[in-house]
Amino acid sequence: MDVKARQERPGGAVVALASDHAGVEACLALAAALREAGHEVLHLGPAKPDPVDYPDFAARVARAVASGQAACGVLICGTGIGMGMAANRFRGVRAAVAHDEYTARMSREHNDANVLCLGSRVVPAARVAEIVRLWLATPFLGGRHAGRVAKIDACHEPEAGKGA
Ligand code: RB5
Repeated sequence: MDVKARQERPGGAVVALASDHAGVEACLALAAALREAGHEVLHLGPAKPDPVDYPDFAARVARAVASGQAACGVLICGTGIGMGMAANRFRGVRAAVAHDEYTARMSREHNDANVLCLGSRVVPAARVAEIVRLWLATPFLGGRHAGRVAKIDACHEPEAGKGA
């Protein structure tokens, strides 16, 4: 989704961010970097590194994206894995765990990911903002990928995948 496409959706170009305690420092730094770069940021917590449960914060961002309050979101925990598992339970959310520029870019081009999950213990702190900026600027390629993404979204249905 490029910036123009995001602006045409409810939630405009708003990027929702959240983390758990393992990702709080990286998430606050990311919020500052995105604001500095001109993005509208909705930071959904936490503000301090006290222990919290990552599904609670994944749910905040997933709900913001699913409702259109935000166009997309970024979640940071220790690995990105738990955030991704939780966020993908929400209809309309396609959360991708990425480890680098390549996986972040592919999650947009092929999978139309609308939530990016990063691991603060996996991705070097100095690369987080750059990976997220690349992810935000990368459009979905559509074409042959569009039908596959539609099938991801249809996975909530009990008959999903039976005809394959
Ligand atoms: C917290 O220790 C850790 O489990 C969490 O940040 C995340 O990596 C879970 O997937």
